[in-house]
Amino acid sequence: KNRDIRVLRAPVICVLGHVDHGKTKILDKLRRTNVQEGEVGGITQQIGATNVPAEAIANQTKMVKPAFSIDQIDFPGLLIIDTPGHESFSNLRSRGSSLCDMAILVVDITQGLEPQTIESIELLKKRKTPFVVALNKVDRVFEWEGNQHKDIKEVVQAQAEFAKNDFERRVKEITIRLNEQGLNAALFYENPDPRTYVSLVPTSAITGDGMGNLIALICTMCQAKLAPQLRYSEELQCVVLEVKTIQGYGTTIDVILVNGRLREGDNIVLAGTEGPIVTQIRSLLMPKPLKEIRVKGSYDEFKEIKAAQGVKIAAKELDKAIAGLSLRVAQHEDEISVLKEVVHKDFTLAMKAIKVKDRGVYVQASTLGALEALLEFFKTKGIPYSGIRVGPVVKRDVMKAAAMLEHDDKYAVILAFDVKVDRDAQELADREGVIIFSEETIYHLGDRYVEFLEEHKR
Ligand code: GTP
Ligand code: MG
Ligand code: NA
Repeated sequence: KNRDIRVLRAPVICVLGHVDHGKTKILDKLRRTNVQEGEVGGITQQIGATNVPAEAIANQTKMVKPAFSIDQIDFPGLLIIDTPGHESFSNLRSRGSSLCDMAILVVDITQGLEPQTIESIELLKKRKTPFVVALNKVDRVFEWEGNQHKDIKEVVQAQAEFAKNDFERRVKEITIRLNEQGLNAALFYENPDPRTYVSLVPTSAITGDGMGNLIALICTMCQAKLAPQLRYSEELQCVVLEVKTIQGYGTTIDVILVNGRLREGDNIVLAGTEGPIVTQIRSLLMPKPLKEIRVKGSYDEFKEIKAAQGVKIAAKELDKAIAGLSLRVAQHEDEISVLKEVVHKDFTLAMKAIKVKDRGVYVQASTLGALEALLEFFKTKGIPYSGIRVGPVVKRDVMKAAAMLEHDDKYAVILAFDVKVDRDAQELADREGVIIFSEETIYHLGDRYVEFLEEHKR
């Protein structure tokens, strides 16, 4: 079959699961990258996106039996979305899963179902999203002998008695736990009815066992179950993931383009810290295939990009952009004002959903998603917040935080996650007695403030 006549868009596949069960590492194995090792604290704190072309799928599924051929598939590749498993990021798991057509639920075979596994299952059930379970870290099964060049069924069958028993015991245990969640489940090669049973695929992100089977299974399921849903639609569905400065391009935004197309020169409207931003796409970029968009790299430039893809957009005025909401394209000049209102409403709704107290700390983060996660984390720690903002710490923020000095100086602090602190702002803070805590992981930020409170009491 000629690839050019493929009619479906790339399915969006979301990777979900409990913290440290191996979501990012599985994608690293697929991409041949080392994203996970570069993460602060070894945890994912943002949504990621990777374009996986058909050629890569063909390359990595050669060991699958019966033979899997990419020519059976009518879509041009996969767009895979990575999500954080840390409990505070339920907002990003929800956002990621709301964008996807199908999901991979990653379960550490040695740990089984844990709280965020169950939370993920709830999300998938609610949206009726089909999914497969990757029983990951199978290399940790007692005396496991891996072989990434073989079909995983053969690898399982070739295990010595001890390993096989340990493997079977763990699979059985996890199957029972899934049953308790109202799911029928079976190893994919023993699945009696793929329409009603969730398939389990043993994988190892370290040795590569089962990776080919996992990819092949997702592709076959997308083709069988989702073909109508994957018909390309011109109706734009596009979400901003990140705002980043890139050498040579200035401030850029990373977006997930789920449906529709973007063109160089398009007038786009998106949320900004000072109100909706209207600007024109100067460069339309994509990371190289199999590169994680959240990691800086080199980019290819395009005149036009059709969904589904992870895309980087360079344009003027993006330095005040806010990540986490939809991006709109104005087809005509006169649409701009309407779209500005729509974007403004999206933003006000998101901010209104966040309830602030009269007294509490001032919180800032780089993205709306990170801000929501941070506040979720502070709630569990009993830390009240009175002010919030997406964006770098500037003098105005310090002034707002300083207002707490009149009430309770333990709240005259700014907890800043992954944002710059302006020098002016720092100087003002030092003069006024406002303390700025700035960290790159949300839990360190919370912990440092809790320590500060302890000292404060003394
Ligand atoms: P969060 O994004 O923070 O939720 O974690 P994650 O699910 O993306 O897990 P991550 O990829 O960060 O992996 C967590 C740890 O498990 C890392 O130290 C990995 O090297 C290790 N790991 C992941 N997959 C495997 C595997 O298949 N086998 C073994 N032995 N270790 C693995
Ligand atoms: Mg991760
Ligand atoms: Na991790």
